[in-house]
Amino acid sequence: MDRKQFLSRSLKASVGALVAGPILASTSSCSPSGSSDASNGSVETTPGAATTPVLQLSQVSLPYGYSALEPSIDARTMEIHYTKHHAGYVKNVNEAITAEGVQATDEADLLARIGTFSTKVRNNAGGTWNHNFFWQIMGPGGKGTPDGKVLDALSAGFGTFEKFKEQFTEAAMKRFGSGWAWLVERNGQLAIGSTPNQDCPLMDVSELKGRPLLALDVWEHAYYLHYQNKRNEYVANWWQVVNWDEVAKRLG
Ligand SMILES: [Fe+2]
Repeated sequence: MDRKQFLSRSLKASVGALVAGPILASTSSCSPSGSSDASNGSVETTPGAATTPVLQLSQVSLPYGYSALEPSIDARTMEIHYTKHHAGYVKNVNEAITAEGVQATDEADLLARIGTFSTKVRNNAGGTWNHNFFWQIMGPGGKGTPDGKVLDALSAGFGTFEKFKEQFTEAAMKRFGSGWAWLVERNGQLAIGSTPNQDCPLMDVSELKGRPLLALDVWEHAYYLHYQNKRNEYVANWWQVVNWDEVAKRLG
């Protein structure tokens, strides 16, 4: 191969890598949760295929350090959870969207029609959205109990905050295997429930439907390093890191 042939082949290889390479997703300021911080994905155009918009989801920045939620959630668990598990869902859903030619206008549209897509898209889109939401509704320095309109709403919906807490804890404990416990708003009413795997109340296929206000990850990856099999202790300690101000924003 002479120099001219080498340069020609190198140029073609570079162009090929650009076309086939990962599409960088940007963080949107809008989400189906109503949060101003959670991801809503973005629709970007694949270089070289200007007429084909490709939805790509993104991972929100963690709003605190890995050790910020100690001792309720240990730093090592937080780091692995965010950088391995959550990042993996984001990577996998974006790969699946691209590979399967998924057409959706945004993340909300994707979740609302998730039943029409593959299991890989369903699991990883849920894993992406759920964790983006989860990071946002936690924070350091929590009081453990809400006040103001959140306390009023929970008292109106469940009798007292303690009764709400009992029901939510029961949902978290009774979810067999991996999944999530949720507080949702549906038709003006608050409801507690759980979903299996990475299903989300915003999905068309979810038994529990509604607008998420609070969520707890009860996958073992969320607590096993520190709590081992003691999910009950993880759930009990988690209340200390709920960011009720973020719940209030979602309550509207
Ligand atoms: Fe998780």
